[in-house]
Amino acid sequence: MAFIEAVRESAIGRRARSDRFPALPYPDLAYTPEVAEATRHLYERVRNVVPAVEWPVFAPYIKAINDLKAVRNAVVLAHNYQTPEIFHCVADIVGDSLQLAQEAARADAEVIVQCGVHFMAETSKILCPDKVVLIPDSEAGCSLAASITGEDVRRLRDSYPGVPIVAYVNTTADVKAEVDICCTSSNAVQVVESLGAPRVIMLPDRYLAKWVASQTKVEIVSWHGACEVHERFTAEELEAYRAADPSIRIIAHPECPPDVIAVADFTGSTAKMIDWVKQKRPPKVLLVTECSMADNVASETPEVSFVRPCNLCPHMKRIQLPKILDSLVYMREEVMIDPAVAARARRSVERMVNLKS
Ligand code: 13P
Ligand code: SF4
Repeated sequence: MAFIEAVRESAIGRRARSDRFPALPYPDLAYTPEVAEATRHLYERVRNVVPAVEWPVFAPYIKAINDLKAVRNAVVLAHNYQTPEIFHCVADIVGDSLQLAQEAARADAEVIVQCGVHFMAETSKILCPDKVVLIPDSEAGCSLAASITGEDVRRLRDSYPGVPIVAYVNTTADVKAEVDICCTSSNAVQVVESLGAPRVIMLPDRYLAKWVASQTKVEIVSWHGACEVHERFTAEELEAYRAADPSIRIIAHPECPPDVIAVADFTGSTAKMIDWVKQKRPPKVLLVTECSMADNVASETPEVSFVRPCNLCPHMKRIQLPKILDSLVYMREEVMIDPAVAARARRSVERMVNLKS
């Protein structure tokens, strides 16, 4: 394995790779009648949220990306926070962090294009070391992943000997390599309880850790990280929405501060929030999370009215159709992880993925 990675990194490896994946001619991006016809069914999926005037700009990229996926034997994974033209029109697999990790492990394509942030692409590479994993913009980071290093985890381990450490998937491969197991917001309580320990360190999100602590008897030791998107919501703003319309349903992501979660009718991962809306179909709902997700759900639940306090994740929004097209044309930007780190990180991610639900 180390040898294969070393060869890949060498001049011979790069040549072998470019023989396997030669750069393709850049597609023509005119909005022709052929493009309009080929993408008509896709526009139907997003017509509630994408104005007709924008479609001639999106449609040529969407057609080119979908054509090139077949040429490259590629699969596009998109997180629930991607914009609707990506989420509904070019993605093969959509979901929360856990679903994307599980699907990456199952994908039989040669190439994975990860439309999400860097830690998500790294998770795919950790689970699929032999696939080419591309991220359309490698600057798509995450305030949580940036809040802690592998060295920090080693220090925590020294300070709390014998206490198991759980890392949220919103961490780098270096951090995943140092911990006992990973979790996502959809399985965090289950992961913590699976360890059978009276005390567990949960990093790096202090709010997720607080929420988990409220759901379990296990004592939780946390780190000081926070999501720059979810920490901006306040209980006061949500109470103002409720005062304006007491029938409104408020559902929140567990990365929100505790006083925000206290106002919510339901708390769960992005996938659980989507399922909640699709099952309950309330007349009016406020999703306390990144705001593209409301567009993605709105396009499938036209009878639900969404109140949108728009907090965007600037990292997720770096992923755009032209960059996805560039990924497939030029096979960039490829995610690489030191094989020794990846092998240790894989243990933590696989231990989570293999937990029985
Ligand atoms: P989910 O796992 O709930 O999709 O959350 C990922 C994330 O980054 C939320 O901000
Ligand atoms: Fe990270 Fe927050 Fe953006 Fe999710 S929404 S990727 S946690 S910064």
